[in-house]
This record gives sequence, structure tokens and C-alpha cells, in this order.
Amino acid sequence: MPADNPSVIIQGLGIYAPERNVTNDDLSQVMDTTDEWIRTRTGIGARRLAAENEHTSDLGTKAAQAALADAGASIDEIDLIIVATMSQDMLFPSTACVIQGKLGARQVTAFDITAACSGFLYALETATRLLQSGSYGKALVIGAEKMSNILDWEDRATCVLFGDGAGACVLSKSDTPDTGILECILRADGSRPELLHMPAGGTAKPASKDTIDAREHFLRMNGKEIFKVAVRDMGKVALDVLEKAGVSPEEVACFIPHQANVRIIESMAQRMQVPMDKFLINIDRYGNTSAASIPIALYEARQSGRIKPGDHVLLAAFGAGLTWGASLIKWT
Ligand code: UT7
Repeated sequence: MPADNPSVIIQGLGIYAPERNVTNDDLSQVMDTTDEWIRTRTGIGARRLAAENEHTSDLGTKAAQAALADAGASIDEIDLIIVATMSQDMLFPSTACVIQGKLGARQVTAFDITAACSGFLYALETATRLLQSGSYGKALVIGAEKMSNILDWEDRATCVLFGDGAGACVLSKSDTPDTGILECILRADGSRPELLHMPAGGTAKPASKDTIDAREHFLRMNGKEIFKVAVRDMGKVALDVLEKAGVSPEEVACFIPHQANVRIIESMAQRMQVPMDKFLINIDRYGNTSAASIPIALYEARQSGRIKPGDHVLLAAFGAGLTWGASLIKWT
């Protein structure tokens, strides 16, 4: 990062996990699956599911309020709100606008980023650069998902994998050079969007009786293909961002990968030749919360004392698009 750019730091973090905890055993009561299958294939043991009247914006608002309290900042100090989500309250307006309203924020810049499970990293980088432009003082970056409403609960191959939740951070500038968000690489390859998509509901296939009958308003995924790409690209981009920053994997205190499948994380660790105990894993309790997975994991890493001021922390993600990326932070 050029020396004349001010440092951008995470001033506060907050999460919100819906109250309802649904275990694999609970799911096996209502569909043809087992705890053993889900646990051995994915590492997932349970997930939180939001209440019917709790929308993605509600989860994001609660996480944002927690992040503001953690930062000791008031909502009036925020002049940029970016929300990463693939389960927006509505196609439009943006969930960021809805959250801006619910937070009672000033009439600031607010928009969504759609990069699925990589969304939080895309949002973090966008907010960092906007803060460095000098036009903004403090930003709220939120990853929020109510995946349960876009899952096909008749498709056991996908519905057991995801969960609901939200994580948020307050970003601000610091006079200390070379701290906070140090480097980031974001990538996309849209040549095979069908690997992970929702076929209908957009302008390509507007909602109709046929699309509803064909259950095309739910998430569809080619799990095997995504698995291969994730292992290859998430590990590579993590190493690339470290090389760009001139930091070795040994110098990283904690790796925070997107929580999609513990086997993907194990393969990534193997490829990077980094011991697994340096990776934060919480998929056992939350499942895959898409854009919320990294901020929730980052929050838990800090709360458990796994990251301390001065530590290098590496975030890495992949998701629909396909999109992937990695971000290196020097914790403050
Ligand atoms: O955030 C990014 C989004 N997505 C991902 O990261 C997903 C990446 N992919 C994966 O994590 C894995 O590919 C899965 C966990 C989705 C699937 O694991 P897999 O080892 O690739 O399993 P599979 O799809 O090959 O399915 C194996 C078997 C099938 O049965 P047959 O055809 O071999 O008889 C499935 O029907 O497992 C069956 N199966 C299930 N059995 C019990 C699929 N889902 C279930 C289930 N419970 N929930």
C-alpha cells in the first residue's frame, strides 16, 4: 500500500447470531440426513436460524449496533455503510439503505455489495479505499445473511450447509503508518455462474408460476466443482497477498478463512504448509453464513485472545461468481 495513504483500522467489531440453534440431529428428524454425514463431509454440527420476522437487515442492524458499541462510536460519526449480502431483504432498495434507516444514521452513502461469500472482503476493501480517498471519516462494513430463506429445504445437498447470522466492523483512519488493513487481492471469474446461483427472480428469468414450480428461487450449487476451485484459489490468493505485503505465512498469527467446509480449510492449510491450529474454525457452530462468516470468525478470534495488537491476521474467502480474495491485517 503506498506510503501516502493513511492507515485504515478496525476500530470495533460486533456480531449477531439468531437465537434458534438447529443441530444436525434436529435436521435428521425432518429430512433424510444424518449428523454423521454432515459432520464428516463438512465439519458442521449446528447452525443458527433466524425467526420468521427477523430479516437480513435486522441481523445486520444488530451486528452494526454491537460494532458501534465496541468501537465506542456513535452512529452520527458514520458516513459510509456498505453491506455484503446475497440474501437481501428485497432486490431493491439495497439492504444497506434499509439498515441505514433502522440504525437512524445520517443521510450518508449506503450501498450493497454482491460477491456472495467473498462479499465481506470486497466490502472491506471498498470501504478502506473510500476512507483513504479523504471523502469519508468512519465506515460501517456489515456482512449479513438470512440464508434460510433462499435455501431449498427439499434439497438436502445444500440446505444442511448454511446458516444465518451477521458480523460488522467500524473502520476508521489511524495516524500510525503500516497498520490496519495492509493488503488485499480480490478476484472474479464469471465464466461459470451456474456453479452457485439462484436461477430465477432476476430479469433473466422473472418470477412466474413455472419458476416457482421448478423451485428456481432457491440457491443451487454444484458442490463438487466449487470444492475444487475453493481449495485451489483460496490458498493461492492467500499466499499471493502475503507475498505482495512481504509477510511470510509463519509471521501470521491467525488465518481466518471463509467457513464453508472444514475439509476445504484443511486442504488450504496443507497447500500453504501452515499448521491447522493457526486456522480459526467455527463452522461446527454456525455452518456457512456466507458474507457473515468472516466477520463472525474474526470477532471470535479476537474475543478468545487468538489475535492481539501487532499480530498479522489473514482473511480469505471464495464464493458465488465465482469470487475469491484475501486480505492481510495488522491488528491494532
Ligand atoms: O461458500 C461457498 C459455497 N459452497 C461450498 O463451499 C461447497 C463446497 N462443496 C462441498 O462442501 C461439498 O462438495 C459438499 C459438502 C457440498 C458435498 O460433499 P461431497 O463429498 O462432494 O458429497 P456429494 O455431493 O458427492 O454427495 C455424496 C453422497 C450422494 O449420494 P450418492 O449419490 O453417492 O448415493 C448424495 O446424495 O451424499 C449424498 N448426500 C447426502 N447424504 C446425507 C448429499 N447430501 C446429503 C445429506 N445427507 N445432507
